[in-house]
Amino acid sequence: MFRRRQRIQYKTLEQIRKMRTAGLVVAEVHQAMRESAGPGVSTAELDRIAEEVIRSCGAVPSFKGYDIGFGPYPASICASVNAQVVHAIPSPDAVLAEGDLLSVDVGAIVDGWHGDAAISIEIGEVDPRVTALREACEASMWAGIRAAATAKRLGGISHAIEHSVEHAGDYGIVTGFGGHGIGTEMHQDPHILNYGRPGEGPKLRPGMALAIEPMLTLGSEETAELADGWTIVTEDGSIAAHTEHTIALCEDGVWVLTAPDGGVEQLGDAAASVARAA
Ligand code: MF3
Ligand code: CO
Repeated sequence: MFRRRQRIQYKTLEQIRKMRTAGLVVAEVHQAMRESAGPGVSTAELDRIAEEVIRSCGAVPSFKGYDIGFGPYPASICASVNAQVVHAIPSPDAVLAEGDLLSVDVGAIVDGWHGDAAISIEIGEVDPRVTALREACEASMWAGIRAAATAKRLGGISHAIEHSVEHAGDYGIVTGFGGHGIGTEMHQDPHILNYGRPGEGPKLRPGMALAIEPMLTLGSEETAELADGWTIVTEDGSIAAHTEHTIALCEDGVWVLTAPDGGVEQLGDAAASVARAA
């Protein structure tokens, strides 16, 4: 079977430190989103706040103007509500309401290096099933990140995500989208499936930087694209959750570049020593 050679960009520790700076900008935006999102707030307002935070850090919003061939993306965040899975464009008409599940995806560039991460935020009180979905999504992301410290191949990460979801409950794992390598571009090789087998895929090596981003639904794993050319929704209208971190594989463990604590609390011994020192 023909397989295109993976063009993986391996980073030096010095370059990873630059990605950490971008990652901390993204983390700061997430914090602002948690503080600002609530019933009555539009996603356009959240986008305005996000861009302000990014630019006040001296960073550049990577999503704005991003073009995959259908014209430039018009905002600094993706703000996907309920059945919207990812890539929903912020709008003054998209006003958050009690019970919504909002995913905010943010990217920032510092000195040419990218950070990319997403959180799912509950708006007011949500259905307990939605909380469980959000928690399952976060847990599967951390399972994947933890696996990155020990797995030999990329499939080990994918498998850990899938395994975590299977044990959490009856959720759909979105199959059409996944994680990705990241560095001097937002999207690099390798593509990272959120399901798979440990023996598959390229070898994991220090210097890799990866965006790990499971997307789970309360129903089907199938998605559809809206006519705006961006918004991805669940095919069956079920609610979806999405969480993402940018991580770097270091010599002695993983550094979660978009987590304020570098992932130390979640990872324990699997966290890189540079994450602890930083
Ligand atoms: N951050 C998203 C991802 O993880 C990409 C955003 S698409 C954009 O793949 F157009 F908004 F940039
Ligand atoms: Co991403």
